[in-house]
Amino acid sequence: MPRSLSTPLTQRLGIAFPIVQGPMNGGSTPAMVAAVSNAGGLGSLAAGGLAPNEIRSQVASIRAQTSNPFNINLFVLDKPTPTDDEVRCALDQLQPIRAELGLVPGQPQEFYCEDFQQQFDTLVDLRVPVVSFTFGLLDAPSVQRLHKAGSLVIGTATSIAEALAWEASGADIICAQGTEAGGHRGTFLGHPDNSMIGSLALIPQIVDAVALPVIAAGGIMDGRGIAAALTLGAQAAQLGTAFLTSAESPIHPAWRKEIRLSTDTSTRTSRTFTGRAARGITNDYMTRMAEHEQDIPSYPIQNALTMEIRKAAGVANRSDLMSLWAGQAAGMSRSRDDGVSAATLVNTLAKETIAAFG
Ligand SMILES: Cc1cc2nc3c(=O)[nH]c(=O)nc-3n(C[C@H](O)[C@H](O)[C@H](O)COP(=O)(O)O)c2cc1C
Repeated sequence: MPRSLSTPLTQRLGIAFPIVQGPMNGGSTPAMVAAVSNAGGLGSLAAGGLAPNEIRSQVASIRAQTSNPFNINLFVLDKPTPTDDEVRCALDQLQPIRAELGLVPGQPQEFYCEDFQQQFDTLVDLRVPVVSFTFGLLDAPSVQRLHKAGSLVIGTATSIAEALAWEASGADIICAQGTEAGGHRGTFLGHPDNSMIGSLALIPQIVDAVALPVIAAGGIMDGRGIAAALTLGAQAAQLGTAFLTSAESPIHPAWRKEIRLSTDTSTRTSRTFTGRAARGITNDYMTRMAEHEQDIPSYPIQNALTMEIRKAAGVANRSDLMSLWAGQAAGMSRSRDDGVSAATLVNTLAKETIAAFG
């Protein structure tokens, strides 16, 4: 049994346990981040959907609740340039579902997503301890700006090529995202279907390919999974779905219930909600929209065009039409009490990991 769960990466990050609470757009909050960081893990805030002033206030809130290291995460996105035709076609495809929810026909949007460069400049200015990125790659000068601001940089990779690209840009840490992971695929090189690599295969191959420390993400729900990831050469494990049913999770009760009811075969990846492949619990929306899988606009256009549907589905308590992001191991959440505190979860995960090595 290891005397502690310390790894070179936990020492560099200044955290007690090799446990990262994954950033989750719509699922992570400053309270969750602070609770995890105070418990000895690395809390992560998803800031991809936040305006610069919201990033500032949420970082201030985290800083007011913890003096330990934490991570802020962004989506690397180009400015979207949708054509009128693709927006009109996407709105037509969504119209039957809008009508069912009592929504008037959708219109092209003025606003599709926050400006990445403004979000990035805000992060540099805030000088946060750790920053992570998904959906794309930073260039070397951008990574250097973050280093000068005192931030460690994590790049998400779903393949060896992506891990090597982040290493070449100067990133400090690779987050290897296996296909089991809940939420969006981070793929940015090649076709996403070619990067659906399971964690058991992906982690050791990325560990062997790069000189950087690796955080393993995807399908890890308990200490056995963390021990497995460490055995494969990762220096920490990132868990998202496990924290979605914690006390600090803000998700809709119907989403929480679906996670608790899920089984090994409940999830699939789909582009239909957002235009980027993302793993969630299969529901009526996904199956009805599956015929359009290949011809819907890419992220963030479809994401913006389905926003009203997802909000209305929440108000109507219609889990059949909500996005129910969750990983392949979501059913394992039933091994915990619903609403376990994030701090208890971190401590329990650490104990289970030590027991798994024993
Ligand atoms: C609801 C949800 C939202 C997510 N949002 C983000 C995000 O904004 N940025 C990111 O890098 N990863 C995001 N992820 C991925 C998680 O950070 C984490 O890597 C993943 O959940 C790990 O796999 P698991 O769900 O099997 O634990 C999200 C995952 C979920 C479930």
